[in-house]
Amino acid sequence: MFTRAELLEASVELRHHALGCVKSTALRCAVKLGVANAIQRRGGRASVEDLLTELSLDASRLRCLHSVMRALAALGVFKEGSDGEYGLTAISSLLVDDDSSVRGSLRPITLLYLEPAFVAPVLNLADWALAGVDGSDDDNNCSARGTAFKMTHGEDVWDVLARDAFLGDFFNGALASETRFLMDIAIRGSPQVFEGIASLVDAGGGTGAAAQAVAAAFPDTRCTVLELPQVVDAAPIDGPVRFVGGDMTKFIPPADAVLLKNVLHDWSDKDCVIILKRCKEAIAASGKVIVIDIVLGSSSLAICNETQLWLDLFMSTVTTGKERREEEWYRLFKEAGFSAYKISPVLGLLSIIEVFL
Ligand SMILES: C[S@@+](CC[C@H](N)C(=O)[O-])C[C@H]1O[C@@H](n2cnc3c(N)ncnc32)[C@H](O)[C@@H]1O
Repeated sequence: MFTRAELLEASVELRHHALGCVKSTALRCAVKLGVANAIQRRGGRASVEDLLTELSLDASRLRCLHSVMRALAALGVFKEGSDGEYGLTAISSLLVDDDSSVRGSLRPITLLYLEPAFVAPVLNLADWALAGVDGSDDDNNCSARGTAFKMTHGEDVWDVLARDAFLGDFFNGALASETRFLMDIAIRGSPQVFEGIASLVDAGGGTGAAAQAVAAAFPDTRCTVLELPQVVDAAPIDGPVRFVGGDMTKFIPPADAVLLKNVLHDWSDKDCVIILKRCKEAIAASGKVIVIDIVLGSSSLAICNETQLWLDLFMSTVTTGKERREEEWYRLFKEAGFSAYKISPVLGLLSIIEVFL
């Protein structure tokens, strides 16, 4: 039995969790409006009235903007001064678009998680879980019906991104923003991972942000991106990185190292083993695979480990993949024929995993 005091506290916690989507939506509102850029333009401090002017919003939106800013300041996204003006914190500094900085802004990747096309499958999770239990589905088999994303949109994520130019560009730009940010940290903090590699293939490398970062830091490394044809068609044709259209489950061009950043978490265990076997065929006897992905529970920070669990749920609504614990990674590497691996949990939510023959 719980005491009345415990239940009252629990009811607050329950409401806190239930309103979590309002928290995300307030964040989306500020990020979409470009509040961090507006504060930066005003010299680092702005009242809500200043923001209204700076963002060209109607005066009738003042009260709502007040609520958004006050709530986000309570989360630590902005800081509120005693004069009622708002300033940037480390979190909102990541939302400032800064073309002069190598690392860029995390505004696009933040918006991706909150884009209605990606949020809708999460909202449909219970319906997806229930679908077919009354025998109405042809084969009454959840895995055959695919993901909640597919149930929501009628197509899997890569088909939607190929068909919908807006979403495709939005997705590629969002991933590239996160990749620029993390590769800067990875290359500066762990240069030994990328040193001495004559050729690198970034499989599923999107529009080439990771390969471009490696090529800029290590000009002697020949960098290639292997991607789906529709992504290659939109990729830059000049520059140090070569783009090749193809399917990494079928063939990966030979190289000293294959990079798989944010790739394996899109795929089932069976498909990961296939991709890792293609990597094994691609690398020379002394080569390696560099996986940059989540290792569940890798951090000493509770917020990091909790966020990894939300990302796991997000991934499994959008793709047939998931986030993995170290034991799960170990099983994949072993089944694909690799004999050793080294995990470096140096990228916040993500780790660098070097996989050796
Ligand atoms: C989550 S994104 C990661 C992009 C990039 N590695 C990054 O971290 O910025 C996964 C990428 O895999 C690509 N992809 C999906 N299926 C593929 C396949 N069969 N062969 C090659 N690339 C594929 C997608 O087009 C997408 O760009």
